[in-house]
Parts: sequence; structure tokens; C-alpha cells
Amino acid sequence: MKITIIGTGYVGLVTGACLAELGNDVFCLDVDQRKIDLLNNGGIPIHEPGLEEIVRRNRAAGRIQFSTDVEASVKHGTLQFIAVGTPPDEDGSADLQYVLAAARNIGKYMDGFKVIVDKSTVPVGTGDRVSAAIAEELASRGSNAEFTVVSNPEFLKEGAAVEDFMRPDRIVIGLDDTANGSRAHDLMKKLYAPFNRNHERTYWMDVRSAEFTKYAANAMLATRISFMNELANLADKVGVDIEAVRHGIGSDPRIGHSFLYAGAGYGGSCFPKDVQALERTARQYQQDLLILRAVEKVNDNQKRVLSRKVISRFGEDLTGRHFAVWGLAFKPNTDDMREAPSRVLLKDLLTRGATVSVYDPVAMPEAQRVLKLDLPAVLVERIQFMDGQMDALNEADALVIVTEWKTFRSPDFDRIKAVLKAPVIFDGRNLFEPEVMAENGFEYHGIGRSVLTRK
Ligand SMILES: NC(=O)c1ccc[n+]([C@@H]2O[C@H](COP(=O)([O-])OP(=O)(O)OC[C@H]3O[C@@H](n4cnc5c(N)ncnc54)[C@H](O)[C@@H]3O)[C@@H](O)[C@H]2O)c1
Repeated sequence: MKITIIGTGYVGLVTGACLAELGNDVFCLDVDQRKIDLLNNGGIPIHEPGLEEIVRRNRAAGRIQFSTDVEASVKHGTLQFIAVGTPPDEDGSADLQYVLAAARNIGKYMDGFKVIVDKSTVPVGTGDRVSAAIAEELASRGSNAEFTVVSNPEFLKEGAAVEDFMRPDRIVIGLDDTANGSRAHDLMKKLYAPFNRNHERTYWMDVRSAEFTKYAANAMLATRISFMNELANLADKVGVDIEAVRHGIGSDPRIGHSFLYAGAGYGGSCFPKDVQALERTARQYQQDLLILRAVEKVNDNQKRVLSRKVISRFGEDLTGRHFAVWGLAFKPNTDDMREAPSRVLLKDLLTRGATVSVYDPVAMPEAQRVLKLDLPAVLVERIQFMDGQMDALNEADALVIVTEWKTFRSPDFDRIKAVLKAPVIFDGRNLFEPEVMAENGFEYHGIGRSVLTRK
């Protein structure tokens, strides 16, 4: 099938590459010339396991192309996927300017039937706005070309995006159009048929419900995280091990084990903005989403949990203190730094006079870029970007772990102890067992695991 992907970011590039891998003829469009040049020169703009290989293989086979040529992109695909960003606007609502610009471009150049598939995360009612934008462009040039707008939200996780796309739990497709409905339905069914071979994974619904489903999913996941973080903070006070509690409740099938980890708060490009956007939608309809308001507040607070623990151990004034920080990306297996808790931690430590040595297996270049935007130059100068995780430890007063990369899970504790000034670890992801750390002579601060200090 001939497919156009508008927006070659995390979602667009993964979608395009995976659909090409299945034999489709894919045209990836982006307005960012540098990104397209990089891809056309064999590079890859993001870190995503397995993606580079798939892109290389399908480029060589001629099944995927990258371009900034809008007209050619519209002419190419019967299916036009919109996968552009929907960042938060000043008031927290989803900024739809990129989605609507993409829609207008389609209306400007289409000359036959098109199915416009909205993969970006967009508020309820966006499908109608996309339809209206396209219809307006068609009317302005007297075209009566037909089209159908479909909602097909994406549920992939950064860090496992290729795997998630290739083996989805579910495929949600929202489709209303009665005139062209069966044409669009048949095309979508054909496109996703390879994913449904083992069993049917597609949930068909109306466009608005599909749009809402994506927000509901992210809001639910964010709620579980904030719930556990809030309980972990209480666990710290009452001498309870939140990890024991996690096992104790997760074994109930109504609760389940996933997404119950206490930590340093959620970040990334989706949860923070999607929770905000859903709250904003509710406010437009005079409803206050009380749970989500609390979820957001708890998370903002939780991003400071590590700096609070450091400060309560070393004092408000951190002048002369030096800290090693492991992990900068908002989660492992990605270089995405959007809303990463590490950004809050670094700001808190540096503004109190500390210096830091930081290490992340893949996010170092992206971290250098965003930290220059976050912090004044005098503070950025106090960050040393290290080549290895052990190098970061030299002469540090403590190690602070922010991201749960695999390479941090079984480190050489004897070496850590030898290199740190004192054996102090603040673990924002509960990677280690407090008892084992105590036996190894560490002063260990996890999240919600202060049961040992109670003894
Ligand atoms: N990143 C994720 O894990 C994830 C998961 C599920 C859903 N989503 C949703 O998918 C959407 C895209 O997210 P992302 O993380 O891939 O964003 P991204 O910022 O990585 O990529 C968006 C791309 O769109 C391009 N673009 C903007 N306007 C354009 C236009 N008019 N024509 C062509 N290209 C244009 C940008 O240059 C950029 O490269 C968002 O709505 C997001 O909420 C993201």
C-alpha cells in the first residue's frame, strides 16, 4: 500500500519504518530539513532500539523515502498519516497548529480519494477540525475530491517503540464517515491485517471515542505512578517498604503488577502534556478532573524527591559538594529528555552551589542541548559530562541515580565505595535492596524504603 507519514519524529519514523518493513511503500515527510538530510544520509535522529536497522534495510530496498516535498507527499499515499507533535499550549491545551497545518497541506494538493489517519494525540473533536480544514482548502480551489478522517492513536512506548508497534496490545481505530466509511474501513483493515494474524487486536469505534481513549490510557498510567509515589512518601515516614507493598497489591489481578513503581516522577513527551490537555478539555466543558489535578501536582512534587533527600542529608547550602548523577533521559532506552526528572534535580543541586558529574548511556548530547536551555551558563559550567558511569563517581559526596538503565543495575559496589568520597547512594528508581546495600556498607536512600532506618 502507498502510505505517507507526515511528521518524522518518534511516532512518525517508527510507524513509517515498521509499515515499510511489512512491504508497504512509505513516504516520510518532515518540515525539518536537517532531520530529512540526516535520514537521507543514512543517519537516524533518535535513539530507539532496532530502528536504525529497519530504516537502513527498507531504504536500501526502496520501500521508504524521506523528503520535505509537501506536494509529492500528498500525491504519494492514499493513506495520509498525521504524526506531528501536539505540544502543550500556554494554557495546557494541546497545540493543534501542526496537525491543522498538515491537514491544510493535504487539502491543498490532494486530487483523489484520501484517508487521513490521525496518529497524533489530539483532543476530542480534532477529527472534525481536520475535516473542516481539508474541506476549506478543497473548496477554495473548487475541488470535490473525497476524503475520510480516521483516528488511530498510537500506544507505543519510547525505548520499546519498534517492538510495541510490531506487536501491539491493541489497535484503536475511530471511523465515522458513512459515505466513504467502508472504503476507509477496508483500507485500514488491509493495512493492519498483518498485525491481526494471531488474533484480532483492532477495536473499531467512533472518532471521538478513539481520540478520548488515548488520553484515558495515559491518564490512567500517570495516575498509577502518582498514586504509588504518594504512598511511597508516606511509607518513608512510617517505616514501610513500598516495594513489599507493590508486590502485595500487584498480585491482585484487579490491580496487576505493571506501572506500580515508586520513583522520581514521570516525564517524557506524553504523560505530562496529555494529563494537562485532558484536564483542559474537561474545563472547557465546566468539569474539573479532580483526580488528574492531583496526579499532576503529586508528580511535580515527586520530581523534587531526590533533591529533597539530598538536601535533608547534606543541608540547604550545597556549596563545595559534588554529586555523581547516573541517568538523564526520562526513562531507559531513549535519549528523550522532555520533562525528564533529571532536569529538575540538576537545577536544584546546581542552584544550591553544588557541582555534578553526569553520565547517561545515550542521552548525553541531547542533555547538553536541553540543559543549556534550562540553566544559565554559570550553572552549566558546573556540570561535567562524563564518558563512563564509573568516571562520574570520582570525588563525589554521593551517587544519585535518576534513570533505571540496565547498566546501572549490577555495578561493581566495591569500586563505587572506593571512588566515592563517602558510600552514599540516593536511588530514585529503587534498583537495589536496602538490606544488601547496608551489608555492603552503603548509606542507601531509596524511594519509600526507609524501613531500615526505622530499626
Ligand atoms: N513519543 C511518544 O512516545 C508518543 C507515543 C504515542 C503518541 N505520541 C503522540 O504522537 C505525536 C507525535 O509525537 P512525537 O513524539 O513523534 O513528536 P516529535 O516531536 O518527535 O515529531 C514530530 C515531527 O513532526 C514534524 N512536523 C511538524 N509539523 C509538520 C508538518 N506540518 N509537516 C510535516 N512534519 C511536521 C516535526 O518537525 C517533528 O519532526 C504527538 O501527538 C504525541 O503526543 C507520542
